[in-house]
Amino acid sequence: CIKASKLKSTLGLMSYDPGYMNTAVCTSRITFIDGEKGILRYRGYPIEQLASKSSFMETAFLLLYGELPSEAQLKHFCARVYHHQTALHADIVALLQTIRHDAHCMTSVISALAAMSALHPEANPALEGQGVYSSRKTRESQMFTLLGAFPTLAAHVLLRRSGSSVPCLPAPSLATLLDPARPRAYVEHFLVLLGLGKARPGEEGPDPRVVRALDAILLAHADHELNCSTAAVRHLTSSGVDVYTAVAGATGALYGPLHGGATEAVLRMLQQIGTEERIPAFLEAVKAKEAKLMGFGHRVYKNYDPRAVLVREVAYEVFQVYGADPLIHVATALETAARSDDYFVSRKLYPNIDFYSGLVYKAIGFPLDFFPVLFTMGRMAGWLAHWEELLMGPEEEKKIVRPRQIYLGPAERAFLPIEARG
Ligand code: ACO
Repeated sequence: CIKASKLKSTLGLMSYDPGYMNTAVCTSRITFIDGEKGILRYRGYPIEQLASKSSFMETAFLLLYGELPSEAQLKHFCARVYHHQTALHADIVALLQTIRHDAHCMTSVISALAAMSALHPEANPALEGQGVYSSRKTRESQMFTLLGAFPTLAAHVLLRRSGSSVPCLPAPSLATLLDPARPRAYVEHFLVLLGLGKARPGEEGPDPRVVRALDAILLAHADHELNCSTAAVRHLTSSGVDVYTAVAGATGALYGPLHGGATEAVLRMLQQIGTEERIPAFLEAVKAKEAKLMGFGHRVYKNYDPRAVLVREVAYEVFQVYGADPLIHVATALETAARSDDYFVSRKLYPNIDFYSGLVYKAIGFPLDFFPVLFTMGRMAGWLAHWEELLMGPEEEKKIVRPRQIYLGPAERAFLPIEARG
C-alpha cells in the first residue's frame, strides 16, 4: 500500500505507449514529415529539391544552422569540416587494429566513436564547469570534428575489414578540397581513400556520376525527425553525456535491422530470394509471419517513402556506370507483387529508403556489412542538428528522459534462506 503523499509524486496520470507510437517528447524545427502524403522537408525545403539542387555539405549546413548558406558561409563550413577529414587520430587507428578484422563494420565504428570521447576531454561539459551546456565554440568544434572525421574513420574500418592496410595517400590540400568545381569533395575524398567509384579500373579518380549518387544518398539519409537513432541521441544527451558518447549510442541504435541495419538485411533477403520465380513463396512466408519483407514498412509513412523514390532513381544512374545488378529485377518484381497483395496494401506497407540503397552500395563495391556505416555517415548531420537543438532549446524540454513503466511483478514477499527453498 503506497501512502497518498508518495502516490502523488510517483504515479499520477500515465499513458501506456510501447514504442512511443503516439508520444511526442520534444518540439523541433528541423524536419517535417507528412506520412500520409509521403512528404519530407528539411527546414521547409522539399527533399526532392535538395537532392537535385544541393549537396550533402550544403544540406548539412542547412540542418545545423537552419538556413541555406551563402557561398562564403559554405566555403568556411567546408573548410572547417574538411580540416578533420584529411587524417584520423593515431590512437583511433591503433584502437581499430585491436578489433578482429572480420568483426562487423558497425562494431568498429561504434567503438571508435565512443573512444573519440577520450581524445576530446573538452567534450565533457562538466569538466568545463558549465554543467551540461558547453560553449557554442566548443559545440561547433565537436560538430566539425565528427562530420569531418567520420568518412576517414569509416574508410579505415573498411580497409581493415577487407584485410588491406591503410593507404598512405598524400592528404589533399584544403585548397583542392575547397575547389568550387568540386562541390561534393566530402564524398569524393572518401571514395579516393578507398579506391572506389571509378568507372573503369585504372582511371584516376571516382566517376562524377558515382560521387553525385553517393552524395545524394547521404543527403536523403541526413535527417528523419525522431527515428530510433535520433531519439537515442536526444535520450543520451538528456543525461548530460558528451556528444561522442551520444552518437556512439545512436550508432548502436541504427545498427539494428529494423532501423539502419535494414539496408544490409534487404540485400541479404534479395540474395536469398535469388530469382523472381521464388517471390510468391517468400511473400507467403512473410504473410505467415515467418519472415519480414525488409525495406518495407515505416512507423510514419503510410504512403510511399519519398526517399525510396530518390534512391531508386539514383540506383539507375549508378547502373549506367556499372551495368544493372540482376537483383534490381528481383527487387522491382518484389515491390510490384507486394503492392498488389492485400496483406501489404491493407497494412499500408510501401518500400522505405533502405529497399533500394543497398543495390547502389553494392554496385559501387561496398561490402554488405559496410552498408549501415554509409547510413550513419549521412545521419550524423541530423544527429548533430538535434543535439544542438536540444541543448539550445526551451528549458522545459531539457528534462532527463526517464519514461515510466507499469509494474506487473510480484507484490512484496519475505526472503527465503536457500536451504528452505526446496
Ligand atoms: N514485412 C512484413 N510485415 C510487416 C512489415 C514488413 N516489413 N512491416 C510491418 N509489417 C506488419 C506487421 O507484422 C504488423 O502486422 P499485424 O497488424 O498483422 O500485426 C503491421 O504490419 C504493423 O507493423 P508494426 O510492426 O506494428 O509497425 P511499426 O511501425 O512498429 O514498425 C518497422 C515499423 C519497424 C519499420 C517495420 O515496418 C519493419 O520491421 N520493417 C522492416 C524493417 C525495415 O525495413 N526497417 C527500416 C525502416 S526505415 C529506417 O529506419 C530508415
